[in-house]
Amino acid sequence: MNPKKLIEKKKIDTGGHILTFIRLDSCDSTNNYLRRNLTTMVNQFPVGISSRTQVRGRGRNDRKWFSARDQGLYISLGFFFNEPQHLNLLSLIAGITLSETLNRITGREFNLKWPNDVLYQGKKIAGILIENIIKKDRIISICGMGININQLRSDFPDDLRESAISARMITGQSLDIQTVEPHLIRLFFKWLDVLEREEKSTIINTVIRMNCYERGEKITFHQNRKSIKARFLEINPEGGIVLEKTTGEKVVFFSGEIDPFP
Ligand code: BTN
Repeated sequence: MNPKKLIEKKKIDTGGHILTFIRLDSCDSTNNYLRRNLTTMVNQFPVGISSRTQVRGRGRNDRKWFSARDQGLYISLGFFFNEPQHLNLLSLIAGITLSETLNRITGREFNLKWPNDVLYQGKKIAGILIENIIKKDRIISICGMGININQLRSDFPDDLRESAISARMITGQSLDIQTVEPHLIRLFFKWLDVLEREEKSTIINTVIRMNCYERGEKITFHQNRKSIKARFLEINPEGGIVLEKTTGEKVVFFSGEIDPFP
């Protein structure tokens, strides 16, 4: 590790697990950093890497994640996950974590846009990039989360200005990002415990409460470069979305993206 880039390394009690937490001044992407240093990192699992800025912050589907210095929270959590059958619930508990963290720091309510986005009044405030490394006997999970905290509308690049929002744009106040991290870390491991105890209905009911889609709402669904027009019906007990195609056929998906009906 380049010592100039390291701001601090400490242990955080997540309420059950002791997490090794590393704060960097700068990196390419906290997910990449964790992946590159995986051999040493796994010995310290669970770990959390946060960075004041990312020069190549990554979003889902090869998109970029806007990561200006001290404007957002950029964090990746690395941990072992022993339940392959529950992998699709991992992104849902990450979404709940982000929504609850934002609720704590702003006092407002946030919605989940299945499977990975957090919205405020239809605008995106946080996103999740989960990367799993599947080994013979266990899964190594890297859960990257980004929250827009201190941006003003004019700070966002042109292509995000209409669709993105930050905590500061909601409350009018800027925040010290370091004060947000402990909330996020504790909430994430609390929900990971819920998942490990297999309390699936607690997770699904929370997702249903936070979900931004109305039953019957027209949407466009994208998966593997294919798109279908459908109506949103529900989130099922396994965390999949149930859609009704224009033919009337019901279909369930566990990954993909939803857009409003054009
Ligand atoms: C998305 O909504 O497209 C996912 C965004 C995920 C951004 C976070 S910021 C911390 C971590 N490091 C990255 O490069 N990406 C994730």
